[in-house]
Amino acid sequence: MNRVDGKIAIVTGGARGLGAASAIRLAEGGAKVMLTDMRDELGEETAEGIRQAGGEALFMHHDVASETQWVEVVASTKARFGGVDILLNNAGIGTGGRIDKLELKDWQHMMSINMEGVFLGMKHCIPTMRERASMWEGGGSIINISSIMGFIGAPGSTAYCASKGGVRLATKAAALECGQLGFNIRVNSVHPGYMETEGLQSALRAIARGSGDEAQEAARQEMLKATPIGRLGKPKDIANGVLFLASDDSSFMTGTELVIDGGALAQ
Ligand SMILES: NC(=O)c1ccc[n+]([C@@H]2O[C@H](COP(=O)([O-])OP(=O)(O)OC[C@H]3O[C@@H](n4cnc5c(N)ncnc54)[C@H](O)[C@@H]3O)[C@@H](O)[C@H]2O)c1
Repeated sequence: MNRVDGKIAIVTGGARGLGAASAIRLAEGGAKVMLTDMRDELGEETAEGIRQAGGEALFMHHDVASETQWVEVVASTKARFGGVDILLNNAGIGTGGRIDKLELKDWQHMMSINMEGVFLGMKHCIPTMRERASMWEGGGSIINISSIMGFIGAPGSTAYCASKGGVRLATKAAALECGQLGFNIRVNSVHPGYMETEGLQSALRAIARGSGDEAQEAARQEMLKATPIGRLGKPKDIANGVLFLASDDSSFMTGTELVIDGGALAQ
């Protein structure tokens, strides 16, 4: 049996990387998926790929930092598919910078996407998710993508760590609230380690600061060394975890963290 048959999902940052892999996995599991992103062409391509493989998916332009656009995304998902059962708050950016050099505007930009985007998603999806939550043993499911850096610090990543730590605890507070208010919606966070995506490539370029391929390769080797399992993660490693949290297999899980990091946090 498909694990999310008949469920309706919104996946932010769904054009590429972990979001695209998760959208594909959810569609393979039987969900109808609304992919959103600011990369329109790539987003349309990802949605088309899902449709060609026999799944149901649509794409919508969406900046997760915009409250107006969240209202539109939820309304369109309801109009096109009939509601919302799964919210994957995945969109995020990873630019870093030394704290004494970091501009306030860059800090605020990161918070507007990594934290406010997650807040707005939960705020605007919950009322619609409640309408169908009783249809599923596991109710509605909100999955917020944090990071291993929601647990540990990293030099040059103060803003990123703050945003991902914020996502981790906002997830717990929202889970408790949804439980207490009887909303029948579970809220959990996923914590990827170092995963092979375009996003990681840009992080490597930023760490190397224009010093060329060798410096990028050195940074990559550092990430590999920090990953006991001996390889970097693949997007499907996260997608499988997302599918589990979206499905009724995780019915008794809320307010907790799913760490998918090849052992990085175990040391
Ligand atoms: N790749 C990793 O190693 C890693 C590790 C830990 C956590 N994460 C987190 O996983 C998530 C996905 O990362 P990824 O590696 O797939 O990144 P990615 O850059 O490859 O993909 C992210 C997607 O989000 C979109 N996006 C960015 N800003 C947006 C906005 N304001 N509104 C809507 N969409 C927006 C981008 O256009 C892009 O398509 C992020 O939250 C990231 O912080 C990634």
